[in-house]
Amino acid sequence: MTTPHPHAVRDDAEHQTIHDCRLLLRSAVAADVPAVEALHTRCSPHTLYRRYHAPVHGAPRMLLKHFLAGHSNYFVVTTPSSQAIALGEFAPATRGQHPQLALMVEDAWQRRGIGTWLTRRILRTAAQVRLRTVYADVLGENAPALQHFHVFGGVVQSWEQGTARLAIPVTEQDTPLQDHDGPMAKPAAAT
Ligand SMILES: CC(C)(COP(=O)(O)OP(=O)(O)OC[C@H]1O[C@@H](n2cnc3c(N)ncnc32)[C@H](O)[C@@H]1OP(=O)(O)O)[C@@H](O)C(=O)NCCC(=O)NCCS
Repeated sequence: MTTPHPHAVRDDAEHQTIHDCRLLLRSAVAADVPAVEALHTRCSPHTLYRRYHAPVHGAPRMLLKHFLAGHSNYFVVTTPSSQAIALGEFAPATRGQHPQLALMVEDAWQRRGIGTWLTRRILRTAAQVRLRTVYADVLGENAPALQHFHVFGGVVQSWEQGTARLAIPVTEQDTPLQDHDGPMAKPAAAT
């Protein structure tokens, strides 16, 4: 098995224009570390708490370690100025662990369809490895995330200490948006 070069940009980008901003969704690479650290400094403590279920200051070390090691489990959404505004994680099943997904969209970009975009991408990835279900751990108070995954057919499988484990069926998702100036593309705008 070959190890991906930490700075290799994977050829899997798709784009979408949201609020006149041409956004790119692609696999994360090691070179994204500074942008991902900056994303964590811009996110509110509330958003960070909902993502990590604990107070965190900045990007968790383990996350940065995974990026530097070239793990392919992460997706980033970036602006034309290469600012990272959202992060998706897909952890395939490992020993004793269910396959999991987790999302974080920067506060200023929430409720614009980015979480949906990331979720579709992760579910397509899960389908490629023939998974039928992926799981997301969501705090019981996190109504937006509960509603978000409900839209994807997510159902509560269990509760543990106020956290719901949602089982989300892996169904066929829309085909990826193309990373070229096709009919869907609008002129890129500044961030
Ligand atoms: C949960 C989260 C990822 C959703 O991302 P998003 O980009 O805001 O979501 P979208 O714009 O794609 O919204 C998809 C749907 O989710 C639901 N939703 C999202 N935000 C919502 C809100 N504030 N209130 C109610 N429903 C909400 C809605 O059903 C929405 O569809 P609609 O806009 O057509 O009504 C984002 O709010 C976030 O990063 N939260 C902090 C971290 C977190 O909670 N992670 C989840 C645990 S892994």
